[in-house]
Amino acid sequence: MNLPSRAFITEVAPRDGLQNEKQPVSTDVKVELCERLLAAGVRQLEATSFVSPKWVPQMADAADVMARLPRPAGVTVSVLTPNMKGFEAALAAGADEVVIFAAASEAFSMRNINCSIAESIERFRPVAQAAKAHRLRLRAAVSVAFGCPYQGEVPVASVVDVSARLRDLGCDEIGIADTIGVGTAAHVARVFDAVAREVPLEQLSGHFHDTYGQAVANVVASLQSGVFRFDSSIAGLGGCPYAKGATGNVATEDVVYLMHGLGIETGLDLDRLVDTGQWISAQLGRRSQSRAGNALAARRQREAETT
Ligand code: HMG
Ligand code: MG
Repeated sequence: MNLPSRAFITEVAPRDGLQNEKQPVSTDVKVELCERLLAAGVRQLEATSFVSPKWVPQMADAADVMARLPRPAGVTVSVLTPNMKGFEAALAAGADEVVIFAAASEAFSMRNINCSIAESIERFRPVAQAAKAHRLRLRAAVSVAFGCPYQGEVPVASVVDVSARLRDLGCDEIGIADTIGVGTAAHVARVFDAVAREVPLEQLSGHFHDTYGQAVANVVASLQSGVFRFDSSIAGLGGCPYAKGATGNVATEDVVYLMHGLGIETGLDLDRLVDTGQWISAQLGRRSQSRAGNALAARRQREAETT
C-alpha cells in the first residue's frame, strides 16, 4: 500500500458529537471535553456551531464554549457558520477557522439549512470573502456525498459539482462527508478519484459516519486514494439532527489505532484519547462506540486486576 507518513485529524466531537444529543449537555462538560482533547494532542478542534439555536438547541452556548476554551499555540479552533450572522459571531469569539456546509442533494440542503444548493453557495459567498479578509482558514463540508436520507442515491457528478463550486469560493479544505454512513470502500475511491480532478488531494478530507460499520474501511480507502485529512469524533459520538437513523462519526480512538498500526503519524496520544472517550461516555450515560477505545480500556482494567 502506498500510504502517507502523516495524517491530520480534526476532532469534531464537541460539535458533531454533541449536536445531536437529546439531553442538554452543560457548558462545563463541553469545555472539559475540549480541554481533555487538547491534552491528548488534538491540534484541529471543531469546537461548536454558530447556527440558529431554534434549529440546533444543543449548540446555543457556542459563544460561552468559545470564551472558556483554552487556546494553546498551534491549535486551530473551528466552528460551523452557515451564514453571515454565524460568521460575525465566530469572528467575535476568536475562531481560527470557519466551516461552511453544503449538500450534494437538494433535499438534504433544504432540510439542513433551509435553502437550495445554489442559494447556499450564494449565502456562503460573503462568508468566504469575510473569512479571507480576516485571514481565517475556510473549510467546507459536502454532506450526503455517498447517499441521502431523502433522495437516496447521490450521483458522483453532484459531489464533484458542489466541491468545484466550494473550491471557487476559495475554500482551503473541502470535507467529503458520508452523513448517513452508507458508503463502501470502492464508492469512496470512486468519489475521491473524481473530486480530485477538480480539487487538489491535499485540500480534501474525509468525514465518515459509521452507521453501517464501514467508516474505518472507508478511511483506509481514502488513504489509498491519497487523502490524508480526516474528521473523527471521540467515542464515536455524533449524528446530524437532519439525518434520522444516522449514527456517530468514526471514532477517533479507532482511527488513531488504525493509523499508528499502519505507521502513520498523527501527533495524538492514544492512551489519553481512550481516557477521554471513556470519560465523555460516562458523562452522557452510555457505552463508548469506539471498539478500540473499549478494548484498550478493558485491557487496562485486566492488567490492573492482575498486578
Ligand atoms: P432559516 O430559518 O432559513 O434562517 O434557517 P433565517 O435567516 O430565516 O433565520 C431564522 C432565525 O434564526 C432568526 O431568528 C435568525 O436570527 C436566526 P428569529 O428572528 O426567528 O429570532 N439565525 C441565527 N441565529 C444564530 N446563529 C445563526 C443564525 N442564522 C439565523 N448563524 C439556518 C437557516 C442556516 C440559520 C438554519 O437552517 C440553521 O441554523 N441550520 C443549521 C443546521 C445544522 O446545524 N445542522 C447540523 C450541522 S451540519 C452537519 O452535521 C453535517 C456535517 O457534520 C457533515 C456531514 O456529516 O454531513 C458538517
Ligand atoms: Mg457529520
